Amino acid sequence: MTYIIHRSLRQTPPVAVSGAGVRVFDSAGNAYLDASGGAAVSSLGHGHPDILAAMHRQIDRCAYAHTAFFTTEVAEELAERLVAQAPAGIEAVYLVSGGSEAMETALKLARQYFVEGGEARRSVFIARRQSYHGNTLGALAVGGNEWRRKPFAPLLMEVPRVAPCYEYRDRGAGQSVEAYTACLLDELETAIMAAGPQNVIGFIAEPVVGATGGAIPPTPGYFKGVREICDRHGVLFIADEVMCGMGRTGTMFAIEQDGVAPDLITVAKGLGAGYQAVGAVLAQGAIVERLRQGSGAFLHGHTYVGHPVAAAAALAVQNVIARDGLLEQVQKRGATLKRMLGDVFGKHPHVGDIRGRGLFVGIELVQDRATREAFPPARKLHAAIKNEAMARGLMVYPMGGTIDGQRGDHVLLAPPFIVTASELSEMVGRLAEAVDAALKV
Ligand SMILES: Cc1ncc(COP(=O)(O)O)c(C=O)c1O
Repeated sequence: MTYIIHRSLRQTPPVAVSGAGVRVFDSAGNAYLDASGGAAVSSLGHGHPDILAAMHRQIDRCAYAHTAFFTTEVAEELAERLVAQAPAGIEAVYLVSGGSEAMETALKLARQYFVEGGEARRSVFIARRQSYHGNTLGALAVGGNEWRRKPFAPLLMEVPRVAPCYEYRDRGAGQSVEAYTACLLDELETAIMAAGPQNVIGFIAEPVVGATGGAIPPTPGYFKGVREICDRHGVLFIADEVMCGMGRTGTMFAIEQDGVAPDLITVAKGLGAGYQAVGAVLAQGAIVERLRQGSGAFLHGHTYVGHPVAAAAALAVQNVIARDGLLEQVQKRGATLKRMLGDVFGKHPHVGDIRGRGLFVGIELVQDRATREAFPPARKLHAAIKNEAMARGLMVYPMGGTIDGQRGDHVLLAPPFIVTASELSEMVGRLAEAVDAALKV
Protein backbone atom coordinates (compact mmCIF):
# COMPACT_ATOMS: atom_id res chain seq x y z
CA MET A 1 0.00 0.00 0.00
CA THR A 2 1.32 3.44 -0.88
CA TYR A 3 -0.10 6.95 -0.56
CA ILE A 4 2.46 8.41 -2.93
CA ILE A 5 1.71 9.23 -6.55
CA HIS A 6 4.65 7.28 -7.89
CA ARG A 7 5.94 7.59 -11.45
CA SER A 8 4.01 4.46 -12.28
CA LEU A 9 0.63 4.24 -10.60
CA ARG A 10 0.63 0.50 -11.19
CA GLN A 11 3.94 -0.39 -9.64
CA THR A 12 5.66 0.72 -6.46
CA PRO A 13 9.43 0.85 -6.91
CA PRO A 14 11.86 -0.85 -4.52
CA VAL A 15 12.45 0.99 -1.25
CA ALA A 16 15.91 2.56 -1.17
CA VAL A 17 17.38 2.46 2.31
CA SER A 18 21.03 3.44 1.90
CA GLY A 19 23.79 4.15 -0.52
CA ALA A 20 27.57 3.93 -0.50
CA GLY A 21 29.90 4.87 -3.34
CA VAL A 22 28.48 3.67 -6.63
CA ARG A 23 25.89 1.43 -4.98
CA VAL A 24 22.32 1.89 -3.74
CA PHE A 25 20.73 -0.68 -1.41
CA ASP A 26 17.05 -1.51 -1.08
CA SER A 27 14.99 -2.78 1.86
CA ALA A 28 15.06 -6.34 0.51
CA GLY A 29 18.84 -6.36 0.75
CA ASN A 30 19.49 -5.94 -2.98
CA ALA A 31 22.42 -3.82 -4.17
CA TYR A 32 22.25 -1.77 -7.37
CA LEU A 33 25.28 -0.50 -9.25
CA ASP A 34 24.45 3.08 -10.12
CA ALA A 35 25.62 3.42 -13.72
CA SER A 36 23.39 6.41 -14.42
CA GLY A 37 23.75 8.49 -11.24
CA GLY A 38 19.96 8.18 -11.02
CA ALA A 39 19.23 10.60 -13.86
CA ALA A 40 22.80 11.94 -14.21
CA VAL A 41 22.58 13.38 -10.70
CA SER A 42 24.82 11.48 -8.27
CA SER A 43 28.17 12.64 -9.59
CA LEU A 44 29.97 11.91 -6.33
CA GLY A 45 28.20 8.65 -5.65
CA HIS A 46 26.24 7.95 -2.49
CA GLY A 47 27.03 8.71 1.15
CA HIS A 48 30.03 10.92 0.39
CA PRO A 49 31.36 11.84 3.85
CA ASP A 50 32.60 15.34 2.90
CA ILE A 51 29.25 16.42 1.49
CA LEU A 52 27.35 15.01 4.45
CA ALA A 53 29.70 16.74 6.89
CA ALA A 54 29.31 20.10 5.10
CA MET A 55 25.53 19.77 5.22
CA HIS A 56 25.57 18.85 8.91
CA ARG A 57 27.75 21.87 9.70
CA GLN A 58 25.41 24.18 7.79
CA ILE A 59 22.28 22.76 9.40
CA ASP A 60 23.76 23.33 12.86
CA ARG A 61 24.78 26.87 11.95
CA CYS A 62 21.87 28.22 9.91
CA ALA A 63 19.42 25.80 8.34
CA TYR A 64 17.28 28.42 6.61
CA ALA A 65 17.10 32.16 6.08
CA HIS A 66 14.57 33.68 3.67
CA THR A 67 16.20 35.64 0.85
CA ALA A 68 13.69 38.49 1.23
CA PHE A 69 15.50 39.21 4.49
CA PHE A 70 19.01 37.78 4.30
CA THR A 71 21.81 36.39 2.24
CA THR A 72 24.17 33.75 3.64
CA GLU A 73 27.92 33.33 3.48
CA VAL A 74 27.60 29.90 1.99
CA ALA A 75 25.32 31.01 -0.87
CA GLU A 76 27.65 33.95 -1.60
CA GLU A 77 30.66 31.65 -1.66
CA LEU A 78 28.95 29.15 -3.95
CA ALA A 79 27.96 31.88 -6.41
CA GLU A 80 31.49 33.28 -6.43
CA ARG A 81 32.91 29.81 -7.07
CA LEU A 82 30.50 29.12 -9.95
CA VAL A 83 31.25 32.47 -11.59
CA ALA A 84 35.01 31.93 -11.25
CA GLN A 85 34.80 28.76 -13.34
CA ALA A 86 32.12 29.85 -15.81
CA PRO A 87 32.60 30.87 -19.45
CA ALA A 88 33.65 34.46 -20.23
CA GLY A 89 31.33 37.23 -19.14
CA ILE A 90 29.22 35.15 -16.75
CA GLU A 91 29.10 37.25 -13.60
CA ALA A 92 25.92 36.46 -11.71
CA VAL A 93 24.08 33.49 -10.27
CA TYR A 94 20.47 32.86 -9.27
CA LEU A 95 20.12 29.82 -7.02
CA VAL A 96 16.98 27.67 -7.26
CA SER A 97 15.84 24.18 -6.25
CA GLY A 98 16.15 22.18 -9.47
CA GLY A 99 16.40 22.06 -13.23
CA SER A 100 12.87 23.06 -14.20
CA GLU A 101 12.99 26.02 -11.83
CA ALA A 102 16.31 27.00 -13.34
CA MET A 103 14.77 26.95 -16.82
CA GLU A 104 11.72 28.97 -15.75
CA THR A 105 14.06 31.47 -14.15
CA ALA A 106 16.19 31.73 -17.28
CA LEU A 107 13.13 32.29 -19.49
CA LYS A 108 11.90 35.10 -17.26
CA LEU A 109 15.30 36.69 -16.81
CA ALA A 110 15.76 36.72 -20.58
CA ARG A 111 12.34 38.26 -21.10
CA GLN A 112 12.83 40.92 -18.42
CA TYR A 113 16.20 41.83 -19.94
CA PHE A 114 14.45 42.84 -23.15
CA VAL A 115 11.49 44.48 -21.43
CA GLU A 116 13.89 46.72 -19.50
CA GLY A 117 15.81 47.45 -22.67
CA GLY A 118 12.68 48.83 -24.34
CA GLU A 119 12.14 45.72 -26.47
CA ALA A 120 8.96 44.39 -24.89
CA ARG A 121 7.85 43.06 -28.28
CA ARG A 122 10.38 40.24 -27.96
CA SER A 123 8.38 37.24 -26.78
CA VAL A 124 9.49 34.24 -28.83
CA PHE A 125 11.81 31.46 -27.73
CA ILE A 126 13.20 29.15 -30.38
CA ALA A 127 14.25 25.66 -29.33
CA ARG A 128 15.06 22.28 -30.80
CA ARG A 129 13.11 19.13 -31.43
CA GLN A 130 14.14 16.15 -29.34
CA SER A 131 15.16 18.14 -26.29
CA TYR A 132 14.04 18.25 -22.68
CA HIS A 133 14.09 21.34 -20.51
CA GLY A 134 11.87 20.36 -17.60
CA ASN A 135 8.31 19.63 -16.58
CA THR A 136 6.91 22.99 -15.43
CA LEU A 137 4.79 24.75 -18.04
CA GLY A 138 7.41 27.18 -19.38
CA ALA A 139 10.16 24.57 -19.44
CA LEU A 140 7.81 22.01 -20.97
CA ALA A 141 6.78 24.53 -23.62
CA VAL A 142 10.33 25.10 -24.81
CA GLY A 143 11.15 21.38 -24.62
CA GLY A 144 10.89 19.29 -27.73
CA ASN A 145 10.01 15.97 -26.18
CA GLU A 146 6.76 15.23 -27.97
CA TRP A 147 5.27 12.54 -25.75
CA ARG A 148 5.86 14.63 -22.63
CA ARG A 149 4.29 17.74 -24.16
CA LYS A 150 1.29 16.28 -25.95
CA PRO A 151 -1.32 16.07 -23.16
CA PHE A 152 -0.46 19.58 -21.98
CA ALA A 153 -0.03 21.21 -25.39
CA PRO A 154 -3.08 23.54 -25.07
CA LEU A 155 -1.49 25.05 -21.95
CA LEU A 156 1.89 25.73 -23.52
CA MET A 157 3.27 28.79 -25.33
CA GLU A 158 4.06 28.38 -29.02
CA VAL A 159 7.72 27.67 -29.64
CA PRO A 160 9.23 27.45 -33.13
CA ARG A 161 11.52 24.46 -33.26
CA VAL A 162 14.53 23.51 -35.31
CA ALA A 163 16.32 20.20 -35.79
CA PRO A 164 18.64 18.91 -33.10
CA CYS A 165 22.27 18.33 -33.98
CA TYR A 166 21.96 14.56 -34.34
CA GLU A 167 24.65 13.43 -36.69
CA TYR A 168 24.08 9.67 -36.42
CA ARG A 169 20.53 9.98 -37.76
CA ASP A 170 20.47 13.14 -39.78
CA ARG A 171 23.77 13.60 -41.61
CA GLY A 172 23.15 12.42 -45.13
CA ALA A 173 25.25 9.70 -46.76
CA GLY A 174 28.00 11.57 -48.56
CA GLN A 175 27.25 14.83 -46.70
CA SER A 176 30.29 16.25 -44.91
CA VAL A 177 30.07 17.14 -41.22
CA GLU A 178 30.67 20.77 -42.19
CA ALA A 179 27.83 20.74 -44.74
CA TYR A 180 25.49 19.07 -42.24
CA THR A 181 26.36 21.65 -39.58
CA ALA A 182 25.85 24.49 -42.05
CA CYS A 183 22.37 23.13 -42.88
CA LEU A 184 21.39 23.11 -39.21
CA LEU A 185 22.64 26.66 -38.75
CA ASP A 186 20.75 27.80 -41.84
CA GLU A 187 17.62 26.29 -40.40
CA LEU A 188 18.12 28.21 -37.15
CA GLU A 189 18.67 31.50 -38.94
CA THR A 190 15.64 30.87 -41.13
CA ALA A 191 13.52 30.24 -38.02
CA ILE A 192 14.72 33.50 -36.48
CA MET A 193 13.92 35.37 -39.69
CA ALA A 194 10.48 33.74 -39.90
CA ALA A 195 9.62 34.79 -36.35
CA GLY A 196 11.10 38.23 -37.02
CA PRO A 197 14.43 38.78 -35.26
CA GLN A 198 12.95 41.75 -33.43
CA ASN A 199 10.46 39.36 -31.78
CA VAL A 200 12.89 36.68 -30.63
CA ILE A 201 14.16 36.49 -27.06
CA GLY A 202 16.45 33.50 -27.22
CA PHE A 203 17.54 30.19 -28.63
CA ILE A 204 17.61 27.30 -26.17
CA ALA A 205 19.64 24.12 -26.50
CA GLU A 206 21.27 21.40 -24.43
CA PRO A 207 24.97 21.41 -25.41
CA VAL A 208 24.96 17.61 -25.10
CA VAL A 209 21.41 16.26 -25.39
CA GLY A 210 20.59 14.14 -22.37
CA ALA A 211 17.48 12.13 -21.58
CA THR A 212 15.67 12.64 -24.88
CA GLY A 213 18.52 11.71 -27.18
CA GLY A 214 20.98 9.73 -25.10
CA ALA A 215 24.13 11.86 -24.78
CA ILE A 216 24.19 13.35 -28.27
CA PRO A 217 27.14 15.74 -28.64
CA PRO A 218 27.13 18.59 -31.16
CA THR A 219 29.20 18.55 -34.33
CA PRO A 220 32.38 20.67 -34.28
CA GLY A 221 31.54 24.31 -34.91
CA TYR A 222 27.80 23.94 -34.33
CA PHE A 223 27.65 26.09 -31.20
CA LYS A 224 30.15 28.61 -32.61
CA GLY A 225 27.69 29.01 -35.46
CA VAL A 226 24.76 29.28 -33.04
CA ARG A 227 26.58 32.01 -31.11
CA GLU A 228 27.29 33.99 -34.30
CA ILE A 229 23.70 33.78 -35.50
CA CYS A 230 22.33 34.81 -32.09
CA ASP A 231 24.74 37.75 -31.99
CA ARG A 232 23.80 38.80 -35.50
CA HIS A 233 20.15 39.07 -34.51
CA GLY A 234 20.48 40.28 -30.93
CA VAL A 235 19.04 36.98 -29.68
CA LEU A 236 20.18 35.40 -26.41
CA PHE A 237 21.74 31.95 -26.39
CA ILE A 238 20.51 29.92 -23.42
CA ALA A 239 22.46 26.72 -22.72
CA ASP A 240 20.58 24.13 -20.69
CA GLU A 241 23.30 22.29 -18.80
CA VAL A 242 20.98 20.87 -16.19
CA MET A 243 22.03 17.36 -17.14
CA CYS A 244 25.30 17.76 -19.04
CA GLY A 245 26.89 20.43 -16.84
CA MET A 246 28.87 20.50 -13.60
CA GLY A 247 31.70 18.28 -14.71
CA ARG A 248 29.67 15.47 -16.26
CA THR A 249 31.40 15.83 -19.65
CA GLY A 250 34.90 16.30 -18.22
CA THR A 251 34.81 20.10 -18.05
CA MET A 252 32.80 22.05 -15.51
CA PHE A 253 30.49 23.29 -18.29
CA ALA A 254 29.87 21.14 -21.36
CA ILE A 255 29.83 24.21 -23.62
CA GLU A 256 33.45 25.02 -22.71
CA GLN A 257 34.46 22.31 -25.15
CA ASP A 258 32.66 24.17 -27.93
CA GLY A 259 34.55 27.37 -27.18
CA VAL A 260 31.61 29.71 -26.76
CA ALA A 261 30.04 31.62 -23.89
CA PRO A 262 26.23 31.51 -23.63
CA ASP A 263 24.20 34.44 -22.29
CA LEU A 264 22.48 32.24 -19.74
CA ILE A 265 23.40 28.77 -18.49
CA THR A 266 21.16 26.58 -16.38
CA VAL A 267 22.59 23.86 -14.14
CA ALA A 268 21.08 21.52 -11.55
CA LYS A 269 21.55 17.77 -11.14
CA GLY A 270 25.34 17.58 -10.68
CA LEU A 271 25.36 20.90 -8.82
CA GLY A 272 24.12 19.27 -5.64
CA ALA A 273 24.99 15.75 -6.83
CA GLY A 274 21.74 14.53 -5.29
CA TYR A 275 22.63 15.58 -1.75
CA GLN A 276 20.30 18.56 -1.98
CA ALA A 277 17.66 19.83 -4.38
CA VAL A 278 19.51 22.70 -6.00
CA GLY A 279 19.85 24.38 -9.37
CA ALA A 280 21.14 27.66 -10.70
CA VAL A 281 21.02 30.12 -13.55
CA LEU A 282 24.30 31.74 -14.49
CA ALA A 283 23.99 35.02 -16.34
CA GLN A 284 26.18 37.34 -18.34
CA GLY A 285 27.02 40.44 -16.32
CA ALA A 286 25.39 42.70 -18.93
CA ILE A 287 22.01 41.05 -18.43
CA VAL A 288 21.93 41.63 -14.70
CA GLU A 289 23.47 45.08 -15.07
CA ARG A 290 20.59 46.19 -17.28
CA LEU A 291 18.10 45.18 -14.58
CA ARG A 292 20.24 46.85 -11.90
CA GLN A 293 20.27 50.11 -13.86
CA GLY A 294 16.58 49.73 -14.75
CA SER A 295 13.94 48.55 -12.31
CA GLY A 296 16.56 47.38 -9.82
CA ALA A 297 15.01 43.96 -9.29
CA PHE A 298 14.40 40.67 -11.05
CA LEU A 299 10.67 40.03 -10.83
CA HIS A 300 11.02 36.48 -9.61
CA GLY A 301 11.51 34.45 -6.46
CA HIS A 302 10.67 31.22 -4.69
CA THR A 303 10.56 30.44 -0.99
CA TYR A 304 13.62 28.22 -1.17
CA VAL A 305 15.92 30.17 -3.51
CA GLY A 306 19.44 30.35 -2.14
CA HIS A 307 18.71 27.71 0.49
CA PRO A 308 21.79 27.59 2.75
CA VAL A 309 21.87 23.82 3.19
CA ALA A 310 21.52 23.33 -0.57
CA ALA A 311 24.29 25.87 -1.10
CA ALA A 312 26.49 24.10 1.45
CA ALA A 313 26.05 20.78 -0.33
CA ALA A 314 26.77 22.34 -3.74
CA LEU A 315 29.83 24.16 -2.44
CA ALA A 316 31.14 20.96 -0.88
CA VAL A 317 30.61 19.18 -4.22
CA GLN A 318 32.70 21.89 -5.89
CA ASN A 319 35.42 21.49 -3.27
CA VAL A 320 35.58 17.73 -3.69
CA ILE A 321 35.70 17.98 -7.49
CA ALA A 322 38.65 20.42 -7.26
CA ARG A 323 40.48 18.66 -4.42
CA ASP A 324 40.23 15.18 -5.93
CA GLY A 325 40.94 16.19 -9.52
CA LEU A 326 37.60 14.77 -10.62
CA LEU A 327 37.35 16.61 -13.93
CA GLU A 328 40.50 14.85 -15.11
CA GLN A 329 39.08 11.65 -13.65
CA VAL A 330 35.89 12.06 -15.69
CA GLN A 331 37.93 12.50 -18.87
CA LYS A 332 40.00 9.43 -18.10
CA ARG A 333 37.16 7.19 -16.97
CA GLY A 334 34.97 8.48 -19.80
CA ALA A 335 37.53 7.26 -22.31
CA THR A 336 37.69 3.92 -20.51
CA LEU A 337 33.91 3.60 -20.53
CA LYS A 338 33.72 4.35 -24.26
CA ARG A 339 36.44 1.79 -24.94
CA MET A 340 34.66 -0.87 -22.86
CA LEU A 341 31.36 -0.15 -24.58
CA GLY A 342 33.14 -0.36 -27.93
CA ASP A 343 34.60 -3.75 -26.97
CA VAL A 344 31.22 -5.13 -25.92
CA PHE A 345 28.82 -3.38 -28.27
CA GLY A 346 31.04 -2.22 -31.14
CA LYS A 347 29.97 -5.15 -33.30
CA HIS A 348 26.66 -5.90 -31.60
CA PRO A 349 23.98 -6.39 -34.26
CA HIS A 350 21.53 -4.15 -32.39
CA VAL A 351 23.73 -1.28 -31.20
CA GLY A 352 24.01 1.36 -33.89
CA ASP A 353 25.85 4.15 -32.11
CA ILE A 354 28.00 4.72 -29.03
CA ARG A 355 28.38 8.41 -28.26
CA GLY A 356 28.82 11.10 -25.63
CA ARG A 357 31.36 13.13 -23.75
CA GLY A 358 33.17 12.28 -20.53
CA LEU A 359 31.04 10.16 -18.22
CA PHE A 360 27.92 11.08 -20.17
CA VAL A 361 27.54 8.31 -22.71
CA GLY A 362 24.69 6.78 -24.69
CA ILE A 363 24.13 3.74 -26.85
CA GLU A 364 21.40 3.73 -29.48
CA LEU A 365 19.62 0.47 -30.27
CA VAL A 366 18.61 -0.47 -33.78
CA GLN A 367 16.88 -3.37 -35.41
CA ASP A 368 19.35 -3.27 -38.25
CA ARG A 369 22.80 -1.68 -38.09
CA ALA A 370 23.05 -1.12 -41.84
CA THR A 371 19.69 0.62 -42.35
CA ARG A 372 19.63 2.04 -38.79
CA GLU A 373 15.97 1.04 -38.60
CA ALA A 374 14.61 1.32 -35.07
CA PHE A 375 12.66 -1.32 -33.17
CA PRO A 376 8.85 -0.95 -33.24
CA PRO A 377 7.88 1.49 -30.45
CA ALA A 378 5.21 -0.94 -29.18
CA ARG A 379 7.97 -3.34 -28.24
CA LYS A 380 9.19 -0.85 -25.58
CA LEU A 381 12.72 -2.20 -25.76
CA HIS A 382 14.00 0.63 -23.53
CA ALA A 383 11.62 -0.37 -20.73
CA ALA A 384 12.62 -4.02 -21.05
CA ILE A 385 16.30 -3.05 -20.79
CA LYS A 386 15.61 -1.04 -17.64
CA ASN A 387 13.77 -3.98 -16.06
CA GLU A 388 16.42 -6.49 -17.04
CA ALA A 389 19.13 -4.18 -15.72
CA MET A 390 17.37 -3.67 -12.38
CA ALA A 391 16.91 -7.43 -12.09
CA ARG A 392 20.71 -7.69 -12.45
CA GLY A 393 21.38 -4.99 -9.85
CA LEU A 394 22.19 -2.27 -12.37
CA MET A 395 20.76 1.23 -12.70
CA VAL A 396 20.86 2.69 -16.23
CA TYR A 397 18.65 5.37 -17.81
CA PRO A 398 17.00 4.06 -20.98
CA MET A 399 14.41 6.03 -22.94
CA GLY A 400 12.28 5.52 -26.04
CA GLY A 401 11.35 7.97 -28.79
CA THR A 402 14.99 8.83 -29.43
CA ILE A 403 14.42 9.73 -33.09
CA ASP A 404 11.15 11.62 -33.13
CA GLY A 405 9.40 11.11 -29.82
CA GLN A 406 8.01 7.78 -31.04
CA ARG A 407 10.69 5.70 -32.69
CA GLY A 408 14.08 4.74 -31.35
CA ASP A 409 15.55 3.45 -28.10
CA HIS A 410 18.69 4.42 -26.26
CA VAL A 411 20.38 3.79 -22.94
CA LEU A 412 22.04 6.67 -21.12
CA LEU A 413 24.97 6.03 -18.80
CA ALA A 414 26.18 8.64 -16.33
CA PRO A 415 28.12 6.91 -13.56
CA PRO A 416 29.53 8.80 -10.57
CA PHE A 417 32.85 10.58 -11.19
CA ILE A 418 34.42 8.43 -8.46
CA VAL A 419 33.77 5.18 -10.34
CA THR A 420 36.75 2.84 -10.70
CA ALA A 421 37.72 1.06 -13.91
CA SER A 422 36.71 -2.30 -12.43
CA GLU A 423 33.29 -0.93 -11.40
CA LEU A 424 32.85 0.38 -14.95
CA SER A 425 33.69 -3.04 -16.30
CA GLU A 426 31.08 -4.59 -13.99
CA MET A 427 28.51 -2.04 -15.17
CA VAL A 428 29.19 -2.67 -18.85
CA GLY A 429 29.11 -6.44 -18.33
CA ARG A 430 25.73 -6.31 -16.61
CA LEU A 431 24.40 -3.91 -19.25
CA ALA A 432 25.42 -6.31 -22.02
CA GLU A 433 23.52 -9.11 -20.26
CA ALA A 434 20.48 -6.87 -19.74
CA VAL A 435 20.42 -5.74 -23.39
CA ASP A 436 20.66 -9.30 -24.68
CA ALA A 437 17.97 -10.49 -22.26
CA ALA A 438 15.67 -7.61 -23.28
CA LEU A 439 16.19 -8.42 -26.95
CA LYS A 440 14.89 -11.93 -26.30
CA VAL A 441 11.68 -10.73 -24.61
C1 LIG B 1 18.44 19.09 -19.84
C2 LIG B 1 17.43 19.15 -18.72
N1 LIG B 1 16.85 20.33 -18.44
C3 LIG B 1 15.96 20.44 -17.44
C4 LIG B 1 15.60 19.36 -16.66
C5 LIG B 1 14.61 19.50 -15.55
O1 LIG B 1 15.25 19.35 -14.33
P1 LIG B 1 14.43 18.90 -13.02
O2 LIG B 1 13.99 17.50 -13.25
O3 LIG B 1 15.44 19.04 -11.91
O4 LIG B 1 13.30 19.85 -12.85
C6 LIG B 1 16.19 18.12 -16.93
C7 LIG B 1 15.82 16.92 -16.15
O5 LIG B 1 16.05 15.80 -16.52
C8 LIG B 1 17.13 18.01 -17.98
O6 LIG B 1 17.70 16.84 -18.30
